Order: sequence, then structure tokens, then C-alpha cells
Amino acid sequence: MFPLDPVERHLFLEGIFLKYGYDFRQYSEASFDRRLKNILTKFEMNSLLEVLQKAISSPSFFREMIPLLTINTTEFFRDPQFFKALREKVFPVLKTYPTINIWLAGCSSGEEIISIAILLKEENLYNRSTIYATDINSEVLKKARDGIYEMSTVQNFIKNYVAAGGTKSSSEYYTAEYGLVRFDPSLRENVVFSEHNLVTDSVFAESHLIICRNVLIYFSRELQNRVFSLFEKSLVYRGFLGIGTKESLRLSGSFPLFEEIDINQHIYQMKSSTQVPSGDGRTL
Ligand SMILES: C[S@@+](CC[C@H](N)C(=O)[O-])C[C@H]1O[C@@H](n2cnc3c(N)ncnc32)[C@H](O)[C@@H]1O
Repeated sequence: MFPLDPVERHLFLEGIFLKYGYDFRQYSEASFDRRLKNILTKFEMNSLLEVLQKAISSPSFFREMIPLLTINTTEFFRDPQFFKALREKVFPVLKTYPTINIWLAGCSSGEEIISIAILLKEENLYNRSTIYATDINSEVLKKARDGIYEMSTVQNFIKNYVAAGGTKSSSEYYTAEYGLVRFDPSLRENVVFSEHNLVTDSVFAESHLIICRNVLIYFSRELQNRVFSLFEKSLVYRGFLGIGTKESLRLSGSFPLFEEIDINQHIYQMKSSTQVPSGDGRTL
């Protein structure tokens, strides 16, 4: 397909930011351009300026466009080893807290929320936990709230649940009806759903664990740094952070503040202040 005009691209991104505060200016270019081209095709428009003009005059058109600007691919217990590592290395520490706040940033349509809720239940932690599930896209949040999925997702759910160290019969968690599966509503009882934009919004909740997987991969290095410093501010003393296997904290300015709890699964824990090196290499 034709290349996008860089001036139009720039004006489009600035215009959307000025009008709606949605800041896609630092999303990494290659994959975002594919999404912009999809928008031109879907709405049968020839230029981003035409799309921008319509988006500015019609908020409902803009809302229709947001799901096309974000990538929402997800699955139950995605990268099962990540969940196994949480169970083995993070939950034993969470057990020591009377209440537990978990922030799932970029939760998409809820498969990750259900996975975490199941894990918490099985470790007897769910009753004292609150899961803050946020995403920029209100449509996927609606699906997450409903907790209803295609029957075809179940096979993957079972496979990943077992690989993640699941100990029960997975069918305990859902009922099947008319080609769909409805997950046990209790898995959403302790979940607070909210729209939140990692690029423009501020600290969300005081969290013991933040999970933000396969979101930062679409952001520029600069934007990733902004998000990491947001997470730093949102974590309690010695809080945990889990990011995607293709994402890394290593090149960010926040890295010295964290220790790696599981190198392969990209799980980190905030260091205590005495472990953080000062500018001259001494520890404070
Ligand atoms: C590829 S999905 C990953 C979902 C899930 N975390 C997982 O790993 O399976 C990325 C999610 O990030 C959300 N997202 C993208 N930009 C965002 C932003 N600026 N603030 C919050 N969420 C964002 C998208 O709407 C999408 O639901």
C-alpha cells in the first residue's frame, strides 16, 4: 500500500492529541502506520487529513476509530511460565500483606484479568485483593466486564492453565452456553475496571504488583521511560513489576531502582532505598 505522507501523519497525530488528549505521537512507527493505513481502508478515505477532519468534528467517529489504533491481541495465561513465576516468586511475598492491590495496565479484553484472578483464588489471596484493570480502549474493557468469550478460546485456556501450574479442573471456572463460555462472575467481583491512558494519565493506584505486558512494545524508548517512571511512583515499597517477554527495563533510567526477580519472565522488584546506588556508585 502507498506510504503515508509524513506531514499528514504528523498533523493527524498532533490534531488527535490537541482535540482528545490521546497521544499516539510516540508509538513506534512501523506497526502504527499499518494501523493508520487500515483506518484509511476501512473508512474508504484517501488521506489522514480527511480522517482527522472527520474525527475532530465527530467524537463518535473518533471513538469508533480508537479500537483500530490499538492492538488488542491477548489470551488466557499468555506465556504460562510468567504466571508460574508469579505463583512461585511473587505470591509468597504478597501473602504477607493484609490487603493487596494489583494494577493490570493494558488489560485488553480481560483474559489476563481472569488468569490473575484464578491464580489469586487458588493461592487463597483473592478475598483480600483488588485488581485495577485499565486500558485506553473502552470497547475491550466492556468485553472484559462481561467475561464472555468464544468457545474456541477454551482449548487454549486449558493448555495454558495447566502449563502455568493450574491445579484444578479448569472447567470449574466457566460454564458453556450457545457456543460461548461465561466465566464465573466471582472472578470479576474484586476487579475495578477503568479507562486509563498510560501516555497522558497519572499514577493510578498504590500497587503491590503492576502487570503491563505487551503494551510497551508499541511505544518509543522515550515513552517507555515515561511509563516506567509512572510505575515507579505507583508501586509500594518493594513492590513488583511484570512486563512482557519482548519488553525490557534494562535500557530505561528506572532499571537501577529494580532488581530482577525472574530474568526470563521479566519480573522485577523495587529495591529498598539502601540498595539503590548513588550517582558516584556508592549505595545509599
Ligand atoms: C497487545 S494488548 C496486550 C494485552 C495483555 N496485556 C496481554 O499481554 O495479553 C495491548 C493493550 O494495550 C492497550 N493500550 C495501548 N496503548 C495504551 C495506552 N496508551 N494506555 C493504556 N492502554 C493502552 C491496548 O488497547 C491493548 O488492549
